[in-house]
Amino acid sequence: MGQRVLILDFGGQYNQLIARRVRECGVYCEVHPGDLALEAIRDFDPLGIIFTGGPGSVYEPGAPDVDPGVFSLGTPILGICYGCQLLARHLGGTVLPAQGDSAREYGKTETFFNTRSALFHGLPERGIVWMSHGDYISRLPEGFCAMARSAACPSAAMGDEKRRFYGVQFHPEVSHTENGRDMLRNFLFSVCGANGDWSMAGFREKAVRELREKIGGGRVLLALSGGVDSAVCAALLSEAVGRQLICVFVDHGLLRKDEGDQVEAAFAHRDLRFVRICAADRFLSRLAGISEPEQKRKIIGEEFIHVFEEVGREIGSVDFLAQGTIYPDVIESGSGSAAVIKSHHNVGGLPENVRFREIIEPLRMLFKDEVRQLGRELGLPEALVDRQPFPGPGLAIRVIGDVTEDKLRLLREADAIFRQEMDAAGLSAAANQYFAALTNMRTVGVMGDGRSYDYAVALRAVATEDFMTADWVRLPYELLDRVSNRVVNEVTGVNRVFYDITAKPPSTVEYE
Ligand code: XMP
Repeated sequence: MGQRVLILDFGGQYNQLIARRVRECGVYCEVHPGDLALEAIRDFDPLGIIFTGGPGSVYEPGAPDVDPGVFSLGTPILGICYGCQLLARHLGGTVLPAQGDSAREYGKTETFFNTRSALFHGLPERGIVWMSHGDYISRLPEGFCAMARSAACPSAAMGDEKRRFYGVQFHPEVSHTENGRDMLRNFLFSVCGANGDWSMAGFREKAVRELREKIGGGRVLLALSGGVDSAVCAALLSEAVGRQLICVFVDHGLLRKDEGDQVEAAFAHRDLRFVRICAADRFLSRLAGISEPEQKRKIIGEEFIHVFEEVGREIGSVDFLAQGTIYPDVIESGSGSAAVIKSHHNVGGLPENVRFREIIEPLRMLFKDEVRQLGRELGLPEALVDRQPFPGPGLAIRVIGDVTEDKLRLLREADAIFRQEMDAAGLSAAANQYFAALTNMRTVGVMGDGRSYDYAVALRAVATEDFMTADWVRLPYELLDRVSNRVVNEVTGVNRVFYDITAKPPSTVEYE
């Protein structure tokens, strides 16, 4: 099965980050709920266990807890923040709420380390760490020594080197913690004895083998959106089962310039059945005259399902429906219900009359950057693998107000110019997402000797880690100037360009 680390999740906000850091070290890991049954922990056969942070307090009634049997497995454990306090409480230490500000710490904190401990071996004795805790450990459990201290916290880290149990009050996984990655490396390699041999090439080989076993001679249907996840899923499945895979690419006519053809070209020489449905007319006629954002989104979602159902009828029953679900969706699913700001549309939406036996999700254990890595490994073109996120409803939510063929044409041209110039300036990596939108505003301009009354284009470029919050990117004026000049000169029908300087919140990334 290979070496695996188990991450037990107690609800902290950085939990996915811990998993990513571990995998960056070439060690495979999975995140499971903190109260995972002892039997399941044993079956997992972890090389090491990490307890994550969490918002709770270990002695509150109903606080997330771990099966105490975990401490008798002989497996190394690293507790982070709440996880550290849980470790202390279970093993006989005392955890107390910080009185006043004395022991409560939040933010960057200077800390001193005992570099003789396995966790901090080879690192500087002093460094900045990211603290975020209200409770503190007032008495260490039997067998433990303090291994780091800050001004407010005499036991910022603790360890029992004999049993290989460690706890840190701070967050080594966040980038604000200096040498945090090395601390995790020390835990994985020196304490747990990991060999760091997990790689994407290995993942590919294993995934192909497992998919072949599971699918046998069955038929698999996959809805291809042109996005990274479904494209990588298609490439992996095509390698595993060739023409037993049927990819349906519904081109709703709301893609960016040349995008539909690029998707088709990327799969032209692969062994699979590729069906492209050009349904622009259907989508545009249903959208005609509709300007309310949520209604536009709903129509596109519905029409998508209709098209897919029709194709499904022609294809007949299939054995498997494949989806490009990725690990963050798996970890997050089932977590509370946030207010609906926009009804997201994803190509994975299930048509009701497509009959299948089972859903398969070959990427469900991978993070986004790992999906991209796998795409490269499978030989997909860089333009596809490195594609920025693109919303399911496509350009329809970047044409503010009602959508027409003519407005889409203006937007496609302006957007292509913006992307070309970002590329040429070597700035594509400076933003996580950037695009043009067509405002619903026409203004007066002067072109040559004549008056114009044309549309205004908005440019948007955002930097974000998770798309929940985002900041606008400070693009160089020279670049904005070039894009603006080119757009008004080359795109007939546009005479004004704005640059959007709003963060999310209060704005959102997309316009509708
Ligand atoms: P907002 O506009 O909500 O966007 O700040 C956050 C991120 O989500 C993308 N987005 C979508 N992605 N289906 C998707 O698959 C959708 O309906 C959708 N709406 C927004 C948006 O592009 C940004 O990356």
